[in-house]
Amino acid sequence: MEYRMVPPGQHKLPPLPYPTNALEPVISSRTLQIHHDKHHKSYVDGLNKAELHLVEARKRNDFEVIKYWENELAFNGSGHILHSIYWTIIAPQGQGGQPGQQTLAHINAYFGNFNAFKEQFITATEKVEASGWGILTWQPTWGRLEILQAEKHQNLTQWSGIPVLVCDVWEHAYYLDYQNKRRDYINAWWNLINWQEVERRLSLAMSGKVPLTLGNAGRFIYSSQPYPFMPF
Ligand SMILES: [Fe+2]
Repeated sequence: MEYRMVPPGQHKLPPLPYPTNALEPVISSRTLQIHHDKHHKSYVDGLNKAELHLVEARKRNDFEVIKYWENELAFNGSGHILHSIYWTIIAPQGQGGQPGQQTLAHINAYFGNFNAFKEQFITATEKVEASGWGILTWQPTWGRLEILQAEKHQNLTQWSGIPVLVCDVWEHAYYLDYQNKRRDYINAWWNLINWQEVERRLSLAMSGKVPLTLGNAGRFIYSSQPYPFMPF
């Protein structure tokens, strides 16, 4: 499989796919220009800076301020990803067309009908606490769409990422055995990792697939989709 990696600190601000006045009167030229040239650019710069600081931290084995840089990775990384999507999923009035066949099929299959989906999306987006996003996401684990709110951009994640290796550090996972010594638990847990399964999950994630071991088989609702439902 060919795979293109963005090296640390090499993210670039994507150009707008239309002139800054193309969305008027819905979004003014001034708003679009500041939003893209200032705000989006600051996320790209912040993400690059965080990644380069972490390159240095790994070289020095110095993770003293890891929480700060992980937060910067999440905040700026998600900001960069979501804005890059935002510019391309809107278009000058009259040029956006109608919902496609596959989009409609998945919306109807999960949300019931288009109006129910639209009402939930608009209300969920309106009700985001403070700053954030309304997001229609493809959830490859369930094989369907979902509407989610994001406060700010993140919650310490980068949208579009797919989990490959996870460690539960809720106290219920270790407290009876390790009490407050979380690091002892993580060090011991490290020896339990099933690297063959990690390898399998990475290969599947690189194809946009996120299988779980579930009891239900998943309903095949649209035959021409490029991503086959996983045999759970
Ligand atoms: Fe924004």
